Amino acid sequence: MKKLESREDIEHLVNSFYTKVIKDETISFFFNDVAKVDWNKHLPKMYSFWESILFGQMSYKGNPMAVHFPINEMQAMEKRHFDQWLELWKQTIEENFVGKNADMAIYKSENIAKLMAYKMEMARKL
Ligand code: HEM
Repeated sequence: MKKLESREDIEHLVNSFYTKVIKDETISFFFNDVAKVDWNKHLPKMYSFWESILFGQMSYKGNPMAVHFPINEMQAMEKRHFDQWLELWKQTIEENFVGKNADMAIYKSENIAKLMAYKMEMARKL
């Protein structure tokens, strides 16, 4: 199995992940129906996001938390949704990659998802 070490690897990882996401019973509707994602715009952002996290490229310039609040307002993003997101992310990594960066991609996603789930829950209580 391969190490996660290039932009090309990240593109493959992200594409494979969203192939699972858009078919998933628990979370696909956020992407397909709630946010109606423009994949031509979303995918390159995700490549840059992970490239910045894993390789320190700083090619991602956005605010990953902020974009989820309006989605959460339209449709509550709950812990079970984040758990499923993480499950698919881990599955995709484990099916394709090994090594330090692969472990880091899982570790970082768990931390971000935990914080994001908390922020979404707090926002719903305001
Ligand atoms: C239930 C879990 C999640 C759902 C349903 C979800 C859904 C979405 C949707 C619909 C978008 C907007 C796409 C668009 O129209 O441009 C988005 C953007 C994004 N998401 Fe998530 N997301 C989830 C969890 C996460 C997690 C855990 C991370 C990070 C590890 C993450 C990182 C991002 C980033 C970086 C963007 C792009 C932000 C930008 O536009 O700059 N998401 N997400």
